[in-house]
Amino acid sequence: MKTEADKKNKNKLKIVIFASGSGTNLEAILTEWKTGILKNKIEVAAVISDNPDAYALKRAENFGVRRTVVDRKRFRSVPGKERRRAHEKEIERHLDRLQPDLVVLAGYMRILTPEFVRKYWKRIVNIHPADTAAYQGPDGYGWAAERKKEITHTKITVHFVDEGVDTGPVIRQEEVPVYPDDTVDSLKMRGLKVEHELYPEVLRDIADGRISTGR
Ligand code: GRF
Repeated sequence: MKTEADKKNKNKLKIVIFASGSGTNLEAILTEWKTGILKNKIEVAAVISDNPDAYALKRAENFGVRRTVVDRKRFRSVPGKERRRAHEKEIERHLDRLQPDLVVLAGYMRILTPEFVRKYWKRIVNIHPADTAAYQGPDGYGWAAERKKEITHTKITVHFVDEGVDTGPVIRQEEVPVYPDDTVDSLKMRGLKVEHELYPEVLRDIADGRISTGR
C-alpha cells in the first residue's frame, strides 16, 4: 500500500548521494532541497558513504537525511581484484531497496566498476573540478593552480559517469577564472562556489526533464 510520503514524492526525482569527504557539495544540494531551487523537485532517499569519518555524514544528519555507511575497510580481507566489487555489491543492495532515479556523486572517492556503471547507465552523475577533456583525476584545482601562469580559467564539469575515470558524457560546464597569484586554496575556494551553484542547477534541470537520463 502506498503511504502518504510515497504519494507526496511520486513526481520527484529520487536521488541517493554518495560522498566520502567534507561534503560541501552535499550541503549545497541539501540546502537547495530544503529551501531553494530543488524544493519539491527531488527526494533525497539516502546519503551513502564509504568512509565512516566523512564530515558529509554529519552534514546529512543535520538535514535529517538517512545515512548509510559501507566502510571500505571492512573489505580489506577480500583479494585485490574482487575487493572493489565486493564493496560495491553491498552498496548495490542498498540501492536495490531504495530504487533511486539517480545516483549523485559528491566527492565520492571510489572508482565505480564497469558492472555498476552499466547497471546505472546514464543514472550516475559526478562533479569534477576541472575540464574533463583536459584533466582527469582527483586534484583538479592543484592541476589548474600549477598552470596559473599559462591559463586564464579552468572549468567545473558535471558529467554522466561512464566506465572510465572522469571521461563520461558532459552535461554542463562552468568557467572559473584562474589568476597568476592564485594558490590552490584561493582557486579551490572560488571553484567550490561555482560547484555549489552548478550541481543543484543540473539536478533541477534533470528533475524538470530538461536533461534526459537513463531513468
Ligand atoms: C569537489 O571539488 C568535487 O568537484 C570533487 O570532489 C570535491 C568534493 O568536495 N569531485 P566536497 O566533499 O563536496 O566538499
